[in-house]
Amino acid sequence: MFFILLGAPGAGKGTQADIIVKEMSLPHVASGDLFRHALKNGTELGKQAESYMKAGNLVPDGITIKMILERIAQPDCNDGCVFDGFPRTLDQAKALDAALEKQGKSIEKAIYIEVPESALLDRLTGRFVCRTCQTPYHKKNSPPKKEGVCDKCSGELYQRADDKEETIKERLKVYFAQTMPLLDYYNKKGRLFRVNGNQHIDQVGKDIVKFLRGLKQKK
Ligand code: AP5
Ligand code: MG
Ligand code: ZN
Repeated sequence: MFFILLGAPGAGKGTQADIIVKEMSLPHVASGDLFRHALKNGTELGKQAESYMKAGNLVPDGITIKMILERIAQPDCNDGCVFDGFPRTLDQAKALDAALEKQGKSIEKAIYIEVPESALLDRLTGRFVCRTCQTPYHKKNSPPKKEGVCDKCSGELYQRADDKEETIKERLKVYFAQTMPLLDYYNKKGRLFRVNGNQHIDQVGKDIVKFLRGLKQKK
């Protein structure tokens, strides 16, 4: 089963991905994490993506689609995966549908984490991410047990370069212009599930798990 996590920057895609991955035993495929990993390792892909990410713009579709299709060609994605941050444009969504269709597969659900714009800035400026496993934390909403250290892997926590107010504003603009139309795209296909992301992290997770268990029962 292939799932997509949709939502604005800071909506909680990375936070909730963890829960879905465990519930469904599927790998987590996060485009932003893949780009940041490439950047850290100084690969060609990282160099191609760097200037776009720094400015809060989208990396061009050609580069992004190629990266994702290569990732899901790996054997751990045979039975599906949880996409986080991909697709983000209509062309990406169509390319993904076409690639899956060739293998007789399709998107099960796009889970849209709905959060009012006014809540996003605080979430992103207060966020710290693990350098090693990319788990997101928040200084108030979801602090680690020990300051600066990841609960899961003891990795170092850092602030993402694009979590500066100016860049966040650009990312939000890009989201509303280029990614919002995907809601309509998946809704028309009967594939959209909306969850209220403006609740406590645990409650958002519970709502998603309830939905997923319902899906499994129907299978
Ligand atoms: P990406 O890494 O995907 O960033 P994003 O979409 O901007 O989303 P975020 O990771 O910022 O937010 P999130 O929804 O994961 O929130 P989180 O769970 O961390 O992309 C980065 C860049 O890479 C893009 O700008 C682009 O350049 C490039 N890129 C990536 N994919 C691409 C694509 N497909 N095409 C082209 N370019 C692409 O939570 C945020 C914070 O809030 C955390 O601190 C968390 O603890 C807290 N929080 C979470 N849930 C709650 C809650 N319910 N209540 C209170 N606090 C909460
Ligand atoms: Mg994320
Ligand atoms: Zn970690």
